[in-house]
Amino acid sequence: MHNSEVPVLKTSRLSKRFGKRLALAEVDLEIRPGRVYGFLGPNGAGKTTAISLILGLLSPTGGHVELFGLDTRNHLSECLRRTGAVLEGVSFYPHLSGRDNLRVCAAISGGGCESRIGEVLELVGLTARARDKERGYSLGMRQRLAVAAALLHDPELLVLDEPTNGLDPAGMRDFRELVRRLAGAGKTVFISSHLLNEVEQMCDDVGIIKEGHVIAEGPVAEMVHQADVMEMTVTNADAALEVLSQIDWVGLVTRDGSDRLSVEAPRARAAELSRALAENQVYLSELRPRETTLEDFFLEVTSPEDKR
Ligand SMILES: Nc1ncnc2c1ncn2[C@@H]1O[C@H](COP(=O)(O)OP(=O)(O)O)[C@@H](O)[C@H]1O
Ligand SMILES: [Mg+2]
Repeated sequence: MHNSEVPVLKTSRLSKRFGKRLALAEVDLEIRPGRVYGFLGPNGAGKTTAISLILGLLSPTGGHVELFGLDTRNHLSECLRRTGAVLEGVSFYPHLSGRDNLRVCAAISGGGCESRIGEVLELVGLTARARDKERGYSLGMRQRLAVAAALLHDPELLVLDEPTNGLDPAGMRDFRELVRRLAGAGKTVFISSHLLNEVEQMCDDVGIIKEGHVIAEGPVAEMVHQADVMEMTVTNADAALEVLSQIDWVGLVTRDGSDRLSVEAPRARAAELSRALAENQVYLSELRPRETTLEDFFLEVTSPEDKR
């Protein structure tokens, strides 16, 4: 990130208490322009609460939100003009077509965006069905229509609260493609989900929330490759162990089979590793980084202390 780059969305020690229950505890999030950010956590973790605070639908009991570098406490209307949102339980007029529903949305938001209806229908992949009545739409099409409505005023930031809930696999795939298209069109997307797999496939960055606390945050690619471990198959494991023990940047080496080893070492030094072995007449028939899925990581960080 360029240091001069202003985050599109930033929360600072954002907190919300409902009576005795602390729903959100000093949450710091930072979402960079053009990124798809997954806000991942189990039900009841505080995702909807955070989104409601971000959109000014609730007021925090502590901390604050900045959108586009502007404090929402003083600039909420400008912030919301530049933001589109799809929250749970959106509803349209079932007897109107998709296009006519968007006309209604455009009129409610003060007109001016009628001219964008064709473009947003295209973007969400509903052009061919735009004249059909909404009551004949699948849940996935309804969700995409909701995104179209949120895009009418051409926002820079899109906030989506669990948009893939209840979708079948095809609906999820379509939605995933839509999100990637939005990112390609330069939008920043903040998307909450309790589905690890979805976030892994759809997002650039992820923040994991548990019981109101953000317990991990970072690029999905880094979360997926948490452990710098390479698995290798070698021609002579005994000789390989000898060679590896003499390289100071190699950590723990474990033998997984007669010719298989797991080696803790920086992934960027894979070529050096292979050359060091070859110089000692040990050859690799296979070398690959061990993939830890985001799900493994999620389970690891969310498991109770005593089970770790
Ligand atoms: N209006 C409210 N009044 C009291 N408690 C609430 C309210 N809204 C949410 N909560 C509580 O705050 C916690 C977080 O809820 P929520 O933000 O809806 O979680 P998520 O969207 O991650 O499922 C839950 O324990 C929930 O019961
Ligand atoms: Mg929720």
